[in-house]
Amino acid sequence: MLNPRYDDLPVYPFDRLRALLDPHAPAPGLEPISLAVGDPTFDPPPAIAQTMADKADLWGRYPATDGTPGFRAAAAGFLERRYGLGPGVLDPERNVLPVVGTREGLAMVANLVVPPEKSGARPLVVLPNPCFHTYVGAAVFSGAERRPLPATADTGFMPDLTRMTEAEWARTALVYLCSPGNPQGGVAPMSLLMDLILLARRHDFVLVADECYAEIYDAAPPPGALEACAALDGDFTNVLVFHSLSKRSSAPGLRSGFVAGDAELIRRYRMLRNYLGAQMPHPALHASARLWADDSDAFRYRAAYRDLVNTAQEILGERFGFRRPAGGFFLWLDVGDGEEAALTLWKKAAIRVLPGAYMSAPLGDGTTPGDAFIRVALVHDRKTIETALRRLVKVL
Ligand SMILES: Cc1ncc(COP(=O)(O)O)c(C=O)c1O
Repeated sequence: MLNPRYDDLPVYPFDRLRALLDPHAPAPGLEPISLAVGDPTFDPPPAIAQTMADKADLWGRYPATDGTPGFRAAAAGFLERRYGLGPGVLDPERNVLPVVGTREGLAMVANLVVPPEKSGARPLVVLPNPCFHTYVGAAVFSGAERRPLPATADTGFMPDLTRMTEAEWARTALVYLCSPGNPQGGVAPMSLLMDLILLARRHDFVLVADECYAEIYDAAPPPGALEACAALDGDFTNVLVFHSLSKRSSAPGLRSGFVAGDAELIRRYRMLRNYLGAQMPHPALHASARLWADDSDAFRYRAAYRDLVNTAQEILGERFGFRRPAGGFFLWLDVGDGEEAALTLWKKAAIRVLPGAYMSAPLGDGTTPGDAFIRVALVHDRKTIETALRRLVKVL
């Protein structure tokens, strides 16, 4: 027996990519380069290895679901600095909880906030289209109906809220927002964050703002959902934000993130996680507390990603609708047919990229908003990115 919801999961994007590319040999004589997976590959800060060694005695102890006071205080301190919240606006004991990488935290939160019914009907989970696949899996397993909202150039690559009817808002249990966005690199302006917070209060749904790329930006620091709450009236009700060390500290292997916001939701989420969740090991909690308290590494990585975007701009110019991503480290290139381009790049240039369609939901006419695009992850050193993009320009 299997939960029938399993059958509603779309094929996992990277399985689809393997099915597309793996029957074909990469271009002969060229070193294959993957720009498909968004794994940061810069060296992680030495503080991680140091702290792991210093705290090695703690591997023998079970950690708690809510981490340590030091972790929670460092996470709250980061949010206060990054979003100008001012001291004491967040209570580390009530507003913050660790997650073992934001992926699992973002997924599990749907279990907490999606009821079996809302306004007498099946609830909706609203997603950007295209989006990070974890939101899709979480929505499917919550039992809700998915409501993907196109997030295209027309709306600054943020979800088009005008597509929602009042009846749909009434059925909405959860809205996932991703800013800076994966894959398109758009940033939610303060006005959009405020609109969503007011809608969440009016229709009693939870806004989950995935801000895991918040520290990787081009010109200006992207605003955050708690910052928008503070600007409105300081009330975090119905709002949760997720932050990760995977990008800020180039440490995806550490599996360290946190969720912050609505104290009542955090209290209940801790309860749920006591039953269902993994806890972050003590040495990782200590290392993470150090990383959240110090912005110098984030500054360095941000500069390194900007440098890669500069390289991309030099090589691509105005081709493929190139645009500097306002945040994050992905290029979202219009190549006409993303799937065909991905196949050509593999066969003729030994480059792996992800077709935009694989992160997108159908619009109802058989197309998706990602069909024309490829997602290119700028996650290698400059020389490798330069080599890859020069090959890309040559064959497309
Ligand atoms: C938009 C987005 N959210 C969340 C995650 C998960 O990050 P982590 O689980 O490493 O914190 C990723 C990672 O690829 C992502 O792209």
